[in-house]
Amino acid sequence: MSPTLLVIDTDPGVDDAAALLLALTSTEVELRAVTTVFGNVELATTTMNARRLLTLASRSDIPVAAGAARPLVHPQAQRADKWHGTDGLGGRADTLPAATPLDPRGAVTLLADVLRAAKTPVTLAPIGPLTNIALLLAVHPELAGKIDRIVAMGGALRGGNTTLAAEFNIYADPEAAHRVLAEESVPITLVPLDITMNCWVDGQWLDELAAAGPRCATLAGVIDHGRKQHQRAFGEDRVVLHDAVAVLEAVVPGTLSCTSMPLSVECGFGADRGAVRRAESSDSRPVDVALSTDVPRLRAEILRRLLTLDGAAATA
Ligand code: BDR
Ligand code: CA
Repeated sequence: MSPTLLVIDTDPGVDDAAALLLALTSTEVELRAVTTVFGNVELATTTMNARRLLTLASRSDIPVAAGAARPLVHPQAQRADKWHGTDGLGGRADTLPAATPLDPRGAVTLLADVLRAAKTPVTLAPIGPLTNIALLLAVHPELAGKIDRIVAMGGALRGGNTTLAAEFNIYADPEAAHRVLAEESVPITLVPLDITMNCWVDGQWLDELAAAGPRCATLAGVIDHGRKQHQRAFGEDRVVLHDAVAVLEAVVPGTLSCTSMPLSVECGFGADRGAVRRAESSDSRPVDVALSTDVPRLRAEILRRLLTLDGAAATA
């Protein structure tokens, strides 16, 4: 069977790094492009980090283009450098050279070009704020039919991680999230905190990754920052790789069990700005919301794939 065509839209980001490398070590997909967005850190840094990660995997052939530097409508200054380090890669960015060139087209044009050229439908995996995806669908509605599915990490039905109500990616650009989740009709699987928080990996998992070879050790070093922050915040030797959970679903559809429901995104300026809820009326189309999975199997599957990073790169 020919591989599924995939584009990742990302704001690396410690868990974005794991997610990107997971896609690159998964033979079921062909990663056609990486587009970047502001989010965990500023756009210039997320873009440099995406280029660094492709270089680490010896995949400088995959185009990287920069997208939105800010949300669609209302400026939002909050970043997540506490969890990702000021360089976005846990203080280890300098250990990864950025040899992958920057594609001058920009994210929306690159996404559109990939969709237009694709002979089979493309899966989009946005794992940062949804700004680029909202722009793509606004500027190129004629290409919506070329998207097989959007698998997005974001939202929380029960309690946020940025405010009490909102998860980071949605809080970063609620208007974009509203457009993509509630107004468009492209099939979407949303992977919220409700499931990702259960999919933590522990120190032993990370140690196994670190021992597999130099590239795996570099990734483990990046993730270690998240592990230390989690330890400080919650007193547990764990790290949550939110974006890798979503990308595993994009790579192996059906990994996560979903419940279909219409969603609304709170775009007001109260304490619940950015909250994602089951919509009261069914005016919005239904979205597949991932709520459960076989967690031990998922952890093992992500690790099994990442461990091939050194072996696979050595034979590439
Ligand atoms: C999401 O926010 C970011 O900090 C992570 O990279 C992930 O995409 C989790 O809420
Ligand atoms: Ca992210």
